[in-house]
Amino acid sequence: MNQSPLSIAQVTDIHLFADEKQELLGINTTKSFQAVVERLISLQNKIDALLVTGDLSQDGTPTSYQRLQHLLVPLNKPTYWIPGNHDDFAVMQQILNQAFILPQKEFTWGGWNFVLINSAVPGNVRGHLSETTLAWLERQLVARKTQPTLIALHHPPFAVNSLWLDRSILENADEFFAILDRHPQVKLVLFGHIHQEFHCQRNGVHYLGSPATSVQFEPHSTQFALRPEYPGFRLIQLYPNGRWLTQIERVACSEYILDLAATGY
Ligand SMILES: [Fe+2]
Repeated sequence: MNQSPLSIAQVTDIHLFADEKQELLGINTTKSFQAVVERLISLQNKIDALLVTGDLSQDGTPTSYQRLQHLLVPLNKPTYWIPGNHDDFAVMQQILNQAFILPQKEFTWGGWNFVLINSAVPGNVRGHLSETTLAWLERQLVARKTQPTLIALHHPPFAVNSLWLDRSILENADEFFAILDRHPQVKLVLFGHIHQEFHCQRNGVHYLGSPATSVQFEPHSTQFALRPEYPGFRLIQLYPNGRWLTQIERVACSEYILDLAATGY
């Protein structure tokens, strides 16, 4: 069977500010995101949609989300999103719902079912899935038992072997896993938050973390540390028979290197 795949770009942890000149830890997050968008534009014939997995904004302001929408206009691809711990979900719902930016949290495409869940808790860095969210997830999975399924959330349900980051992962992962264990059609779980590439497997489900489009965190570090690496994103090809492929793209960004030098790396 030779069916063409659906191609998704996972873009995460953009951390935009209202002010385009503002920096996060020495990095201008607007410039690093623009570099990523330019790469996405160069790949646009190979990308069907964007999935943005949280921390779209650093300051949660309406202006930061309007700026995000504006920066994505040249790409003009269907863009789905979920909030992260830095976001303001209510503000996002008001702004990120026009033209190609879609508020839907459940959809089917290319033979796959997509379920996007909110793990962010206002005022808390850690992730948590509410009873309402868990019940909704279960209902979506019961309703489409035969389609391969991709779930996205901001927080990883696993420790990533970085002591400081592992304090802010999904705190009720056991409840999440209990649902997935009842629904073997779930193939992939995508998340952000950790600003680094990550891959592990549990009961036949693959869990994938992606680099941020902003600053990169040093893997396996007991305390907070930046890694001098380019911004990136993840490409995923999804075949209707449930097969999938993925790769990480890194985007050279001269501004980024200069800023890293300023932080002491
Ligand atoms: Fe982040």
